[in-house]
Amino acid sequence: MSQFNTDYLILGSGVAGLTTAIRLAKALPNKEILVVTKANKSESNTKYAQGGIAVVWDKLDSFEDHIKDTMIAGEYYNDPEVVKMVVEEAPDCMRQLMSWGADFDFNNIGEFDLGKEGGHSAHRIIHHKDITGFEIERTLLEQVARLENIKVLPYHFGIDLITDHQLKDADTKHTNIRCYGAYIMNQKTNAIEPYIASKTILCAGGIGQVYASTTNPLIATGDGIAMAYRALAKIKDMEFVQFHPTALFEPEQSPSFLISEAVRGFGAYLKNKKGERFMLDIDERGELAPRDIVARAIDNEIHTTGERHVFLDCTHLDYDAFIKHFPNINDKCLAIGIDIRKQMIPVVPACHYACGGIEVNTNGETTIEDLYAAGECTSTGLHGANRLASNSLLEALVYANHIADHVIAHVDEVKPVNVNAPDWNDDGTSTPKELILITHYRNTIQHIMSDLVAIVRTNSKLKEAAKHLRYVEDSTRDLYVGSKLSVQICELRNLNTIANLIVEQSARRKTNMGGFYNSDLVQAE
Ligand code: SIN
Repeated sequence: MSQFNTDYLILGSGVAGLTTAIRLAKALPNKEILVVTKANKSESNTKYAQGGIAVVWDKLDSFEDHIKDTMIAGEYYNDPEVVKMVVEEAPDCMRQLMSWGADFDFNNIGEFDLGKEGGHSAHRIIHHKDITGFEIERTLLEQVARLENIKVLPYHFGIDLITDHQLKDADTKHTNIRCYGAYIMNQKTNAIEPYIASKTILCAGGIGQVYASTTNPLIATGDGIAMAYRALAKIKDMEFVQFHPTALFEPEQSPSFLISEAVRGFGAYLKNKKGERFMLDIDERGELAPRDIVARAIDNEIHTTGERHVFLDCTHLDYDAFIKHFPNINDKCLAIGIDIRKQMIPVVPACHYACGGIEVNTNGETTIEDLYAAGECTSTGLHGANRLASNSLLEALVYANHIADHVIAHVDEVKPVNVNAPDWNDDGTSTPKELILITHYRNTIQHIMSDLVAIVRTNSKLKEAAKHLRYVEDSTRDLYVGSKLSVQICELRNLNTIANLIVEQSARRKTNMGGFYNSDLVQAE
């Protein structure tokens, strides 16, 4: 088996991974940067981001207000220094993206057409129509293509990090664990090969597929967090799963199509079947309250009325302006027979974002030496208990830059990596004859999580979930140990890990805040 050596190994090709790669490649032209990604180059949560990037740009807005909004949404569980740092670096991140060719929307007086979303006290969302993530991904991939020292390997799946554990005897006490790269599966040949690097950077995205209903693409299976967890990195705040209030209600459709929060920022109303604007009774900010509050209100409406969804009413909005801002959403509605001038859009909450993840410091360093992480797979302290809308692409940009700055500043201090990683051992395994069991268990995990560990949790639902997940874990362990590895088996193992982390960390939290809500704690309070 061959071993590949590179300077910097990046797992994931969304905004965090590509920005880190571009910065490193430009500053260190003699170094090689290898980006591995499990699907095609552009497939990532980034590509599907609609709303935009929150940036203080308007003269009437201020860093203080963006900081305050972020802290209020996160219920002050945020790290205030991180919040200040990210908010204040946002304008530079925008300039960087624009210098690389990103195209954002301007109004007729030549200023950014700033949108507004839930929890924001000002118009501060910079966007490209309703496909901002797509535009950013396009821009970054174009930059990457121009840089000869970046190599992107699509359809390569990260199996496990290579740490001292694989290299020394298994009794290692795991103090000062160091990362030397990762075992990567080439999905065309199924070969699993070690990729050795002086720095490994996990930018492997979100976890949405752990729930039955999610806005995240099929690849969002928490691989980065699960890999880091197995390597004994610190993982925190996994109980804070954010549900987007307004995914399009299409029962058989997965992933769910997002109806951007910017539509509510544009003036759309949430209504129940009787046509009542129920948010006004719940929060003075109405439809633009932070996401956790709106999602819980919709969940309550659905549970108490027995309806399967609520509605987003756009019938009163200026249609010409709407289609200019939201062409993609309008096309999708038309495609399923909804004319937003006359009909309301059926919507439900869906899992959207993991606020927790791999703990990193402000350099993007994890608790494992030579392992960095950025983007949705991390817990930086920015989001607290609930992420403010459009702060996630921003966080990924800021931390990608910090990782690059840190690696560049210490480039001469890198310890040599003289490692011969053992071959991947799959003796005694065989290719599973059927995939149905894997599909079955993946669906089972998703339904356990959606039924028992979603917007409103209880102690008994968490216990029940833990019990069912243990059974799935035992069954999938047999599959994992006895089978030749495939992406499907590895994703299943990762989803199981993520589900367990969410359940365990939910069970430990004793106060409701942000995206975490256990109705038994309300009675106890
Ligand atoms: C949206 O457009 O509603 C999503 C933006 C975000 O998740 O920050």
